[in-house]
Amino acid sequence: MAERFKIEFKPLALPGAGDVAFLVHDDLVLPPTVPADLAATVSRSASIEGFKGKALGAMVTMAVPGSGHDRIVVVGLGPKADAESIDWVSLGGVLAGKMLAGRELGVFLATAAETVKPEHAADIALGARLRSYSFDRYKTKTGDKDNKAHGPLSLHVIDTLKTKKAVKLKDAVAEGVCLARDLVNEPPNVLGPEEFAGYAEELSKLGVEVEILGEKQLRKIGMRALLGVGQGSARESKVAIMRWNGGKDGSKPVAFIGKGVVFDTGGISIKPAGGMEDMKGDMAGAACVVGLMHALASRKAKANVIGAIGLVENMPDGKAQRPGDIVTSLSGQTIEIILSGQTIEIINTDAEGRLVLADVLWYVQDKYKPQFMINLATLTGAILVALGKENAGLFSNNDELATRLFEAGKLTGETVWRMPMSAAYDKIIDSKFADVKNSAGRDAGSITAAHFLRRFVNDTPWAHLDIAGTAMGSPQTEINKGWASGWGVRLLNQLVAAHYEK
Ligand code: BES
Ligand code: MN
Ligand code: ZN
Repeated sequence: MAERFKIEFKPLALPGAGDVAFLVHDDLVLPPTVPADLAATVSRSASIEGFKGKALGAMVTMAVPGSGHDRIVVVGLGPKADAESIDWVSLGGVLAGKMLAGRELGVFLATAAETVKPEHAADIALGARLRSYSFDRYKTKTGDKDNKAHGPLSLHVIDTLKTKKAVKLKDAVAEGVCLARDLVNEPPNVLGPEEFAGYAEELSKLGVEVEILGEKQLRKIGMRALLGVGQGSARESKVAIMRWNGGKDGSKPVAFIGKGVVFDTGGISIKPAGGMEDMKGDMAGAACVVGLMHALASRKAKANVIGAIGLVENMPDGKAQRPGDIVTSLSGQTIEIILSGQTIEIINTDAEGRLVLADVLWYVQDKYKPQFMINLATLTGAILVALGKENAGLFSNNDELATRLFEAGKLTGETVWRMPMSAAYDKIIDSKFADVKNSAGRDAGSITAAHFLRRFVNDTPWAHLDIAGTAMGSPQTEINKGWASGWGVRLLNQLVAAHYEK
């Protein structure tokens, strides 16, 4: 990750010179400490430019020569009455976006009426860090690099000590998001299942217990649905299990499961060439789980958390899985005593994510008996048709879990929208030859995919997040200007913090 600038915290005083930033509500009133000439410049510029102090709106103007200041950045907070709902994280993104290469920006974190609280200042710092992310590891010409050193972003705050404390927690989250972005952005030749597992293993430095299962062990366990997906690849499939034990001894863990298809060609049901390069991001669910574990461990979350990811490559090959194949999943088997699992008819080898998740979900459920399981997957193109890039699809067998996810989405801006599930949809995936089929055509494609997963969950509270629209090629926001968004790390960190760290 290229860090483009440092963030510094200074006592609340008007930055005396250089580039300076202020926050105003829609009354455009500046803090009383702002000198009259500067206030006059702002007010005249605002009336000429039509700047009205709308939330997250920004205006840049030049100070009068000789005044000591150079650029003046003014960012809107919207109406005072809506102060409760100010999006401080995005505001940090707006501020970072107004910085110029090689120049410090001093931000005065108080309005005319009150100072910005330490946790909100920390949110601003988080947003600025996320905005400054760029992935340019593979650009060799310095001119192409988007990491021209910016001067520090200096946040002038009422309480530097309290702010720095709050920032430490948010930095853990920022690092988790950026790690997830890095993993999704990495090219597929560089990041195979083994290399990805290496990133999971790195978490042991933070105190996470990590176990990597290779094909030999996976065969022994009986994850034949997952292995079938990877059998056309020259690269060995892996499953990584991460355990963070920050909660009470013996208290039930929460579990996060990620789809980690390092590249999805579609297999024998091969995808068209156009845009196939994007399928390097088909491991975004797994990337989110690793980023989340990183965030939780570095902020020493008081919860027991399992992260489990299925890492495979879906390739066409003489050894690849065929449409018509029938594979036996792990489900129905307890891990020590092998009974017969559910059989799956492969209709389309491009519906591979659900096969990977089926085995990992069952394994986690059977072995760790979690309080809940949440899986994340770039599972279907159909979720893009339904919800676009502005919401992830949420499917769940549990209203409480679904509501908590919805609320965490509103708080973080990583929003989810619940999709329907019912017996009528479930029936569609019955197979002529096996217990279940892995694809049932276009209609309700993201819902039938969710029902497939549901068949591998018993009565454990479970939620599936289809992030095909939100994790990559994501809409450009104030805090994400890249291809990979790192979607889900902030959402799930918020969920854990709000409900599972007692
Ligand atoms: N990885 C894809 C889904 C996807 C599509 C992710 C676009 C991100 C952007 C998934 O494995 C897939 O190919 N799904 C098929 C399912 C179909 C064959 C039932 C799809 O969505 O077309
Ligand atoms: Mn696919
Ligand atoms: Zn896929």
